[in-house]
Amino acid sequence: MSGPVDAGLSVALEGEALRELGLDACFDGRPVVLEIGFGRAELILALAQADPARGYLGVEVSRKRVAKAARRAEKAGIGNVRLVHSNAEFVVERALPPSSISECWINFSDPWPKKRHFKRRLFQPDFVARLCGVLEPGAPLHVATDHAGYAEWIDEVLAAAPGLENLCGPRRVSDTAPARPVTAYEAEWLAEGRRIAYFEYRRK
Ligand SMILES: C[S@@+](CC[C@H](N)C(=O)[O-])C[C@H]1O[C@@H](n2cnc3c(N)ncnc32)[C@H](O)[C@@H]1O
Repeated sequence: MSGPVDAGLSVALEGEALRELGLDACFDGRPVVLEIGFGRAELILALAQADPARGYLGVEVSRKRVAKAARRAEKAGIGNVRLVHSNAEFVVERALPPSSISECWINFSDPWPKKRHFKRRLFQPDFVARLCGVLEPGAPLHVATDHAGYAEWIDEVLAAAPGLENLCGPRRVSDTAPARPVTAYEAEWLAEGRRIAYFEYRRK
């Protein structure tokens, strides 16, 4: 299925609208892949285009980025993508049912490097516990960061989450990207020769 799930629904929607509509109305009961903080949306649009059997739900706090990406999706005729203007915390806590997500990508979430801003980091134990609750059993969670301090923080938070199983072996982190298109930020960091930490987990 590659056409729109429902011609009456637009690609872009607000978090509250997603909560009211529900995932099934957006994706016609197909398995749903979630990307949090999709930025310029090159990854979610490429994945959605290559995988029409699943629905792709992007969440992005920047209204401009949502609008721009929605225009690109519409122009390219990608019907299995919905782009939500919201913070991820609202969507995960309020708009997604338990065990409703078959895979999740979180690439280069803002590192908030100053100590006084650590509380703004997305990866917090409560958020990860809630995210875990919306993943289906066995659902992969892919995370990448270029920031060494944030990598240590993410490692600690994910390793302590009782509902998640690490797939990277004893180091718990990998230097190798998973098989997927390179994201915009990743391309910049790789060009600068920066080391990227990749975490691969799955919901137990
Ligand atoms: C550094 S960019 C990475 C973008 C993209 N994932 C990539 O790899 O190119 C981080 C993105 O996350 C978005 N973002 C930050 N906090 C967020 C939140 N709480 N919920 C949803 N998106 C968020 C930002 O607006 C930004 O587009």
